[in-house]
Amino acid sequence: MKLMVIGSGGREHAVIRKLKENPKVKQIFALPGNGGMKNDAVCVDIGAKDIPKIVDFAAKEKIDYAVVTPDDPLVLGCVDALEGKGIPCFGPRSEAAVIEGSKIFSKQLMKKYGIPTARFECFDNCDDALEYLKTAPIPTVVKADGLALGKGVIIAQTRDEAEEAVREMMRGGKFGKSGERVVIEEFLEGPEVSVLAFTDGTSLKPMVSSMDHKRAGDNDTGLNTGGMGTVAPNPYYTKAVADRCMKEIFLPTMAAMNAEGRKFKGCLYFGLMITKDGPKVIEYNCRFGDPETQVVLPLLESDLLDIMMAVTEEKLADTEVKFSDKYACCVIKASKGYPEHYEKGFPLEIPKPVRDKVYVAGAALKFGTLVTNGGRVVGCTAVADTLPEAIEKAYKIADQVHFDNAFCRRDIGKRALQALENA
Ligand code: AMP
Ligand code: GLY
Repeated sequence: MKLMVIGSGGREHAVIRKLKENPKVKQIFALPGNGGMKNDAVCVDIGAKDIPKIVDFAAKEKIDYAVVTPDDPLVLGCVDALEGKGIPCFGPRSEAAVIEGSKIFSKQLMKKYGIPTARFECFDNCDDALEYLKTAPIPTVVKADGLALGKGVIIAQTRDEAEEAVREMMRGGKFGKSGERVVIEEFLEGPEVSVLAFTDGTSLKPMVSSMDHKRAGDNDTGLNTGGMGTVAPNPYYTKAVADRCMKEIFLPTMAAMNAEGRKFKGCLYFGLMITKDGPKVIEYNCRFGDPETQVVLPLLESDLLDIMMAVTEEKLADTEVKFSDKYACCVIKASKGYPEHYEKGFPLEIPKPVRDKVYVAGAALKFGTLVTNGGRVVGCTAVADTLPEAIEKAYKIADQVHFDNAFCRRDIGKRALQALENA
C-alpha cells in the first residue's frame, strides 16, 4: 500500500514509524515531513495547509490511504477534500474538527450535554469581557476561541493580567481572528492527564494515558510550550478515574457529536484535569497530541494501520486496540529561546545506535547535512519495564544527540515518579 501522512513534526515521525510496521505498507509519503524522516518516508515539499496541492498529489500518486495529523488541515477540511476524491483517510472532517477549532463550540457542547468542565462565559465584545472581569473570581483563565499553536491560553493571577490578556486578544489582534472571541473560565486545580482515543463515532477505544510537561523550564517554570516531554502511562489515571472518564466524558462526548450531526472519526484527544470534584475536560483536540504520541504509540501492540482503517470503515468495535504494560518516556531537545525566538541551521548529530529511538521534529537537510529547523528539534523516547528505567534511558539517548544551543528539561517524569511513590 501507498500511504500519505500530512504534517512535519515528531508526532508525524512517530505515526510513520508505527505505520511502517505493517507488512502491507510499501511506501509512505510525508507532506511536507522533515529532513530527519528521510529513512522512514519520502518527504514531499507540499505544506500541510495546502489542501488543493495535497489532493492533487494524492490523486496523481494513487495514494491508498491518507493520515491527516495536524489541527490546521483538519479544521480547514483536508479530510473532506481527500474523501471527495475517493481517498480514504484517518482524521475527522472539518465539521467535527471544530471541537478543537473553536473553544466556544466545545465549551457550549459540554454545557449542553452535561460533560464536566470548568464554568465559563463566552464573549465576542471586548467591553463586555472587561466588564465581566470586574467581578470574576481570580485567578481566572482567558482563552482565545480559535487555534493559536497552543499559546492562546492565559492563566491570570490578577485582574490586571486578565484584562490585559483580553485587550491583547480582542483589540490587539494577538492571535488574529482566533482571538476575536474569547472564553473566560474558572481556574481549576489538580493533576493533568492526556488521553487519546480512537473513535469511529460508534465505538471509542482509549489509548494508554500520558502526562505532558507544557512549561519550558524545570519544575514547571517558564512559558507554556507545545510540550517538552511526556511519560506514559500517567499514574494519576487510575482504573477508577478511567472508568469515570469513560462514563462521564468520553462516551458522552462521542454521543454529543453524533447528536449535533458532527460524527467524529479519528483520534480524539481529551486534556483532563483530575480535580477534587472528579475529572473535568480542560480541552479537546481533534488529533494525536505532540509529544503524547511519541510515548503512546511505542506502547501500542496492535497494528496502527489496521486500527486506523477500522476507524475509517466504522469497524472499530471489532478491532483490538492493545497496549503493553510497560512505561515510556519522551524527552524533547529544543533550541535555546523556544517557545519564543530561537536560531536555526545548526548541524544536528543523531548517532546511529540511537536513531530508531529519536523522533525528529524540527530539522532540514541542507546540502546533505541534517540541520536544526525548529524550536522543538527531536524527541528521544525509551520504553522500559519501570518508569525510572524509561526516564533514565530517555535521558541517555537525549544526551547523545547534539546540536548547538540545545536545551531540555531535566525533570521529565519527576512528578509522575513522585505520584507513583505516594500511591
Ligand atoms: P489548553 O490549551 O486549553 O490545554 O490550555 C493550556 C494549559 O493551560 C493546560 O494544559 C492547563 O495547564 C492550563 N489550563 C487551561 N485551562 C485551565 C483551567 N480552567 N484551569 C487551570 N488551568 C488551565
Ligand atoms: N501536547 C499537547 C498537544 O498536543 O496539544
